[in-house]
Amino acid sequence: MAVNLKGRHFLTLMDFTPAEIRYMLDLAHDLKAKKRAGIVNHVLKGKNIVLLFEKTSTRTRCAFEVAAMDEGAGVTFLDSKSSQMGKKETIADTAKVLGRFYDGIEYRGFKQSVVEELAENAGVPVWNGLTDVDHPTQILADMLTIEEHCAKPLNKVKIVFSGDVRNNMSYAWMYGAAKMGMHYVAYGPKELAAEIDMEKVEAARAIAEENGGCIEISSDPECLKGADAIYADVWASMGEEAEIPERVRLLTPFKVTREMIEATGNPDCLFLHCLPSFHDFDTTMASEQKEQGYDIREVTDEVFLSRNSVVFDEAENRMHTIKAVIVATIG
Ligand code: CP
Ligand code: NVA
Repeated sequence: MAVNLKGRHFLTLMDFTPAEIRYMLDLAHDLKAKKRAGIVNHVLKGKNIVLLFEKTSTRTRCAFEVAAMDEGAGVTFLDSKSSQMGKKETIADTAKVLGRFYDGIEYRGFKQSVVEELAENAGVPVWNGLTDVDHPTQILADMLTIEEHCAKPLNKVKIVFSGDVRNNMSYAWMYGAAKMGMHYVAYGPKELAAEIDMEKVEAARAIAEENGGCIEISSDPECLKGADAIYADVWASMGEEAEIPERVRLLTPFKVTREMIEATGNPDCLFLHCLPSFHDFDTTMASEQKEQGYDIREVTDEVFLSRNSVVFDEAENRMHTIKAVIVATIG
């Protein structure tokens, strides 16, 4: 059956079939090739989109802006300081107003319920640009990058997420892997694994089974064997900075190192990271934490800069995949 995503929201990959995700990935490959070839179509000419950011961003904001502008759409950016949303106006009223002006709405913030409420009330597609429990546009970029660098089809790929196994990236990967029949391992300390929402895991596991994939949670380094990709993220997500001391204590054994890559037994194992990353002490946050005795690097510079690392291709692919989501839903 032909895939048609016009008018659809993009809140979580759990809402999409494997064929629909395949369609968005194929469209992203195609749009990337067209951009490289200098082919301009302006398929969004006459459209306007708005970007709502309650948390900071480099990649997601710029990816939405460039993707929209490449295709001829207008873009408005609003952060929480410069809009009324939530303070003087409800989420529902904000959505109803923005839906009158715009053809699509991107939201980045804390609760998944906010992006869902926007979607219920906007009357136009709403795209999730990250919440506390999901980051679906990131997964499309990660999958595109794996397809570019790994000879295997996605349903033969084993990916190990090493770190805070109960964060938004880990859940987002669990959903994406389940849909595409991949082998996903959430590798982290027992203390954090105990906080994973098992209802979400069971829902993903049921889907993974249908698609020939599997979802594992492990604290045992044996789970690294045979991995095609290792994935890292910061140890304390936006809004969790107070938890850094405890996270450093728990997650230091899960820092991605050369030894961890070697433990996969796969010299070509890819290293992926959603970015931003602490891989040295050259940021204000990493150096301030170091002064207080905390090494917050989730990956060594050696791995981050190695030939296994595809993190900047991955960052570029945010734009091509986000463009695919916008074009598929409002183009
Ligand atoms: N990976 C990602 O979402 O990056 P930003 O926080 O810079 O948008
Ligand atoms: N887990 C990170 C992802 C950033 C893209 C955060 O939420 O801060």
